[in-house]
Amino acid sequence: MKVTVVGAGGNVGSTVALSVAQRDFAKEVIALDLERKDGDKTFYPSKGRALDQWQVSPIDLFDTRVKGTTDYADTANSDVCVITAGVPRRPGMSRDDLLSINANIVESVTKELVKYSPDTIIIVVSNPLDVMVQVAKDASGLPYEKVMGMAGILDTARYRAFIAEEIGASPKDIQAMLMGGHGDTMVPLPRFTTVSGLPISHFISDERLNEIVERAKKGGGELVGLMGTSAWYAPGTAAAQMVEAILLDQNRIFPVCAHIDGEFGIDDLYIGVPVMLGKGGIKKVIEVALTDDEQELLNNSANHVRGTLDAFKALMNK
Ligand code: NAI
Ligand code: 2OP
Repeated sequence: MKVTVVGAGGNVGSTVALSVAQRDFAKEVIALDLERKDGDKTFYPSKGRALDQWQVSPIDLFDTRVKGTTDYADTANSDVCVITAGVPRRPGMSRDDLLSINANIVESVTKELVKYSPDTIIIVVSNPLDVMVQVAKDASGLPYEKVMGMAGILDTARYRAFIAEEIGASPKDIQAMLMGGHGDTMVPLPRFTTVSGLPISHFISDERLNEIVERAKKGGGELVGLMGTSAWYAPGTAAAQMVEAILLDQNRIFPVCAHIDGEFGIDDLYIGVPVMLGKGGIKKVIEVALTDDEQELLNNSANHVRGTLDAFKALMNK
């Protein structure tokens, strides 16, 4: 199995590459990024990070060969490609500010990838996520089940980590689902939050849970405020978990940015929904019944994503 990560000289991409390698199911990870000029010097961040990561193999005991490159020919016949190429959020920037810069990058990267891997599966991480997935879909010509985005696993991981800390339980035992776009309008679903199957309401008051929901919704911004750039460990690990679910045909059920057309009453849009991930990509969208309040929040989030998509189309004259 071959996995390519584009943007692998950066923070999220290098974490994806290392996390995939540490899971030790792939034959190789191709870590691609641009070369970087600094005066008369040229640096190769993806080659450097990949070499460093490969040198983890005797310590962490994995066989997956991590290879750095700047050449798309090396990505040929990849089973899954993860796109993290782009510009990250800086303080004061919203995810939507990244729109035009990252759209051009994601479009050109996708075209190069499918040139060498015409049947690949693409996982987009670059922001603004829901729109970038549509950009990759359009540029790739691949079917919907093979083009998706990572956000929900990260957003629920933040929520689950906050809950674990709050109630003093293991994060392993906190299950949660979340829907909507990757942004402040995301829709955590406390009704589906459990601690080893027990309802979260047994452990925590509604008021405190709402505070945690609000913190999770702004979780990306909290980290940008602390670090001056956006997060990478949890985002990169989340994308690696999706790669694993697909390539090992695990049938895992995750919140994923997937295309829906009619499900949840929403037409023709990439947005976060529960899906089953396995061989071939998205096996199905899981359309659970929502309450009126949950549906209203999801509609609001869908409207926000559609607004960003329309802004993108206007910007690019599409
Ligand atoms: P970074 O700046 O550390 O890495 C981005 C990499 O992309 C750089 O190494 C850069 O050289 C590379 N790149 C830019 N243009 C390229 C091109 N045309 N071809 C190949 N490589 C190219 O940024 P970081 O922190 O890794 O973030 C990457 C993206 O992921 C950002 O758009 C960020 O907003 C997004 N992100 C999304 C998350 C999500 O939940 N979906 C979570 C965290 C970050
Ligand atoms: C995050 O949620 C900025 O999307 C990025 O960390």
